[in-house]
Amino acid sequence: MARGSALWNVMTEAARKAARALRRDFGEVEQLQVSNKGPSDFVSAADIKAEKTLRAELQKARPRFGFLMEETGEIAGEDGKHRWIIDPIDGTTNFLHGIPHFAISIGLEMEGEIIAGVVYNPIVEEMFYAEKGQGAFLNDHRLRVSARTKMTEAVIATGIPFHGRPGHEPFLKQLGRVMNEVAGVRRMGTASLDLAYVAAGRCEGFWETGLQPWDIAAGILLVREAGGFVTDFKGGQDVLHGGNVVAANPKLHKQLLDLVTKG
Ligand code: IPD
Repeated sequence: MARGSALWNVMTEAARKAARALRRDFGEVEQLQVSNKGPSDFVSAADIKAEKTLRAELQKARPRFGFLMEETGEIAGEDGKHRWIIDPIDGTTNFLHGIPHFAISIGLEMEGEIIAGVVYNPIVEEMFYAEKGQGAFLNDHRLRVSARTKMTEAVIATGIPFHGRPGHEPFLKQLGRVMNEVAGVRRMGTASLDLAYVAAGRCEGFWETGLQPWDIAAGILLVREAGGFVTDFKGGQDVLHGGNVVAANPKLHKQLLDLVTKG
């Protein structure tokens, strides 16, 4: 069983350690909303500090593994096979605005394949964990994707391309098609948690374009280990580096993929 495995210990401990400081920093951010300068610099510093803690903890446990991190970029490892893919604060805009919906995301890649993942929301203390072939978990519970089979009953998560990034026009078309068919669409602001919510059966599906590997590495494995499908916009399995993601329970994946891609 994955919970209690050596990797589970290493990854969840690293996440918990970084989370302690993030929780304190998040408290400060709430105060800084009303200051003239705003919390931007403070949040950048919190992001970098969390990444350093994660790196130090993971390196202590697995000294030969490499890293791909949102803030620092790529650091090659001696073993050449394994690397940690890390987002210290996924959902930075939420964090910056004092919205308690963000996560630490850690994926472990072995020879190009994600073999373990953690997504941790430190505010509500939800630790999502998956290990290849061993299932997906939320704290103590095993996860399964939802069993809903009707689009009209589905809640679908998505992400709107940020200001200044391309893709607003196609996104609005995708949104128009999806929202016509489903019970509700959510833009929650943290892609790793969107995927974790699909794994937990809270949402039936999720789609977004232009994501980075650190936003999705852990979440992809969570959905697959919970019995869901994750593909790119052509239905292909190699999602990590393309950045376009459609994830859903097996009954609704094809329908969501068609809605998103067939204009
Ligand atoms: C962002 C979040 C957001 C998604 C963006 C990502 P960040 O990550 O995951 O939900 O819509 O595309 O960039 O920048 O907060 O780490």
